[in-house]
This record gives sequence, structure tokens and C-alpha cells, in this order.
Amino acid sequence: MMDTEDASGITGDLDHTEFLLDLKQGLARQRKSISPKYFYDAAGSRLFDQICQLPEYYPTRTELSILHHHAPQIAVQLGPHAEILEFGAGSMQKVRVLLDAMDRPARYVPIDISAAHLQGAALQLAKDYPHLQVEPLEADYTQDLVLPPDMPPEGRRVGFFPGSTLGNFEPLDALRFMHMCAKTLQGGALILGADLVKSPDRLHAAYNDAQGITADFNRNVLVRANRELGADFQLDQFAHSAFYNAPFQRIEMHLVSTCQQTVQVGGSSFVFAQGETLHTENSYKFTVDGLCQLAQRAGFTPGQTWTDPDQQFCLLWLDAPKSRSHL
Ligand code: AVJ
Repeated sequence: MMDTEDASGITGDLDHTEFLLDLKQGLARQRKSISPKYFYDAAGSRLFDQICQLPEYYPTRTELSILHHHAPQIAVQLGPHAEILEFGAGSMQKVRVLLDAMDRPARYVPIDISAAHLQGAALQLAKDYPHLQVEPLEADYTQDLVLPPDMPPEGRRVGFFPGSTLGNFEPLDALRFMHMCAKTLQGGALILGADLVKSPDRLHAAYNDAQGITADFNRNVLVRANRELGADFQLDQFAHSAFYNAPFQRIEMHLVSTCQQTVQVGGSSFVFAQGETLHTENSYKFTVDGLCQLAQRAGFTPGQTWTDPDQQFCLLWLDAPKSRSHL
């Protein structure tokens, strides 16, 4: 299901159609929901970058500190002339820590769903690393099997999936994604960054920041629907709600309708009762053991793990199988 039209410029229309279909389907459900991937238009990507700077949002800063601390060791594992494929590259700040420590990195393939962000960040990165081949790939890696360009002959191919983006997947989809990674990265490895289970208070604060940036990020999916799909969501009638669902080991984000209201999307009406929610995101939290089990079930062999002193976040080195017979 590779989207071969990506390069020909009609992606925008395809995206609108997919968004429209997904939103209408999601609003018609008993429990209304929409995929968090729709947060990330240009405005949403900017809001997410702001979230990463918030004092309450510890994951980005903690992961960066783990990376800085262990970059020399990770670079040894990567070896010379390695290539990095990053899933959900965003603003490409974290990979710089790896690139700076690596021995002559050969190529960097950032893969992201947000085109605007991707091209700009890739250009900047290419300027800063003149010897690196930078080949951005605009793709929805949650749906498509990402076929990377031909492997450079010398080094290893290593996937980089930081930020606990894996936490956005339902457990079965996470397994499916990891399995796809194992195939794509045959003979190489995956560096996986994941947020760990911790005190509900700490988690709650990270998704309910004092400045309300996370609330704006959450509501941005409605702003986007209004602009791109001509929907008529009343932004001030949807409240941000984020809480830790402990039995499911996940943060849930919702938009709560503050009154009874009807919303029009693409010629259809959808009624929200007062207090009814649109479920916008799950952010699963993990244990190191749980991650290793997941990785093994997907065909990887877990190697080293790195965490911060408070065990808030972790990085895992996962060796991909050498051949198909191991999958
Ligand atoms: C990018 C999915 C890892 O779940 O913490 C941040 C997104 N949502 N604040 C996360 C997010 C609300 C983030 N991930």
C-alpha cells in the first residue's frame, strides 16, 4: 500500500480525503475518536515542538539527556558508515546527537507525515552535515511499508524511533509496526525510545501543562478540520481532558463537549451530548521488560538498554533479524 503518488503533488488532496473519511467514520462511532496522526499539520507540529520545551513535559528532555550521556557507546554499536532511518522525524533534533557521535555516518532518511516540517528540517540538517546524504521521505509509516532507498554498501542500516511515538499505537498495531520494522531493517538494528510507567501525578502534569499548550495542540485537530474540511466545530465548546488510565497503562486525551451541540462535517451532522468526548490520543507507557517482550515477538533481539537516573524514559538497542527465516 505504498503511496506512489507522493512525489506528484496530489498528496494534499489525498490527505484531505483520508482525513475527511477518518473523521466522519470516527464521529459516527459509539465512542467518537480520531487518530492522533491528524494533530500534525504545520501548526500542530509547531505546537508539539512547544510542548517539548514545557517544564512539565519531561520525555523530550529526558530522552535527549540519555542520548547525550550514551552517544559514544551507541555510536560504537552503529559502527562506521551507518545509515539512519528515522520514523516520525519531526524537527530532527535528537538524531543530531547520534550523528555528532557517529563515525562517518553515510545517510539519513527522515520519514514523516508532515511534509512542510520535513523538507525544512531536512534542508537545515543537510547544511549542518555536508558529508551526510539526507533523503527525506514523506510517508505515513503507520500504514505503508516504508521501502528505504538502496542500502549503502558499507555500513549498517539502523532505524531510529524516539519520542515514545510507539505509545500512540494500540498494542496489536505496535507489534505489527515493530514487525514491519524488523523486515525493513534486516541485518541492522532499531534504536527505540519509550516513556516508562511512573507516578500518575507526574504523567498527569505532563499532559495538563499550566500554559495550556497541550490543550491548544489537542484542539488543533478541530481547527484543522474546520480549515481543511469546512467543518464547523465551535472551539470554545470543546474542553481539553487528559488523564492516566492506569489499568490500560496509557494517557488518554479527549475533547469534551461542554454542551449539547451539532457539528457539520462534509455534509453530515453529528450530535454531541453534553459531556460526550472525542477521543484524540492514547499515549501508552511501558516497562523495559514489556518492551523487550514486544521486540522479541516482532523478531528483534534486545541488546543494551539505557535509562535516566529516575527511570523516567528508556532507549533500547534492538538487533533486527539477519534474514527472513527469523521473522
Ligand atoms: C509524540 C505521541 C510521543 O504521547 O507524549 C504530547 C504526543 N500528546 N502531548 C506523547 C503528545 C500530548 C506525544 N507523542
